[in-house]
Amino acid sequence: MRMYDIIMKKRNGGILAEEEIRFMIQEYVLGNIPDYQMSAMLMAIYFQGMTDIETTILTDAMAHSGDMVDLSGIDGIKVDKHSTGGVGDKTSLIIAPIVAACGGKVAKMSGRGLGHTGGTVDKMESIPGMETSIPQEKFIDIVNKTGLCVIGQSGNLAPADKKLYALRDVTATVDSIPLIAASIMSKKLAAGNDCILLDVKTGSGAFMKTLDGSIELAKKMVAIGEHAGKKTVALITDMDIPLGFAIGNSLEIIEVVDTLHNKGPRDLTEVCLHLASNMLFLSGKGTLEECRKMSEEAIASGAAFQKLIEMVEAQGGDSSVLKDTNNFAKAPYERKVIASMEGYITHMNTEQCGISSLVLGAGREKKEDSIDYSAGIILNKKVGEYVNKGEILATLYTSKEESLAESERILLNAIKIEEKPIKLEPLIFARIE
Ligand code: URA
Repeated sequence: MRMYDIIMKKRNGGILAEEEIRFMIQEYVLGNIPDYQMSAMLMAIYFQGMTDIETTILTDAMAHSGDMVDLSGIDGIKVDKHSTGGVGDKTSLIIAPIVAACGGKVAKMSGRGLGHTGGTVDKMESIPGMETSIPQEKFIDIVNKTGLCVIGQSGNLAPADKKLYALRDVTATVDSIPLIAASIMSKKLAAGNDCILLDVKTGSGAFMKTLDGSIELAKKMVAIGEHAGKKTVALITDMDIPLGFAIGNSLEIIEVVDTLHNKGPRDLTEVCLHLASNMLFLSGKGTLEECRKMSEEAIASGAAFQKLIEMVEAQGGDSSVLKDTNNFAKAPYERKVIASMEGYITHMNTEQCGISSLVLGAGREKKEDSIDYSAGIILNKKVGEYVNKGEILATLYTSKEESLAESERILLNAIKIEEKPIKLEPLIFARIE
């Protein structure tokens, strides 16, 4: 078999055979296919697409390129959740404790921030002492004892995706639906859970900016999951506005605590209740309505907050910052961002809000950059609200005083204020199973 022939077949719109897809992934990971040939293949896929069968085979080949995690040591049904990435998305750290408090099992591998989007592992590491790299045996032990454990991805999980993603990033082939679906689902299949809830974000802060594209991606990923024998559901949720008010690592953990104390922002709480109910539903805990009620009760009773404390302590973290969030280190510099005119906020470019936070030090510009955990933004106003001239739109926090002016400029450009109000979009657009 020759890679040249496989590239030509896809370039001409052909459908690749199973052995061709498996050959190409296996040989690429072994280093026998050079990046220039794989780049040409990615571009051919970008333009010609892939059938559902081709995408399913590609996903399976990528999943099996490294370790397949064995979670059989954990009793009960293990449920995973994956977000396609957003700004202010701290949902994993709210819903994992809710699900565990209701008797579900969450053994989750999460990612770090990517571009303008934040990552759960970075947020967790803003809690002093928190371990996110835990050996498999201890990971399983913690889930059996507490019902939940959230760690970073193991080094050898879907290595084909790691190599391909780096290549896509520099060849303008990231935003291809079959390539995104195979990238996400290969890691989900390798992570070893029984069922998967996908939170597919849509809007200006998401990788998929349009609702149609998000629905197409969600359908493809659900089909891949089901084909692999995993019960899979996707929710399409709004990412045209940052989720909640906090953007940035420890600021988001404080919002997680507020939400688990039933004092969180309305949008964040509502999205989390939908996600947690669906995870419990997939775990066989009841109907969606019953699971919603259980989730609400887990917050109201304090049981979900208690689960977060248990998880943090089991992972070596200092839970005193959760018991009193004033114990988090504070950023030395802050600046209020002020409205220069009155009117309704009609749009927030959410990707730019993420970049404004990144500039303050809350994310990485380069892979090797370190994160300033106390940096970020607290929004005072969001889309739909009326502001007076001179009112505070947001507060910026950072350890780099020199970053304040640029961050402020980006945030102000991201916020559109107009005379007339707009109709708010729903938080949940669709449920796909
Ligand atoms: N997240 C992933 O893991 N892969 C993609 O291709 C896009 C987002």
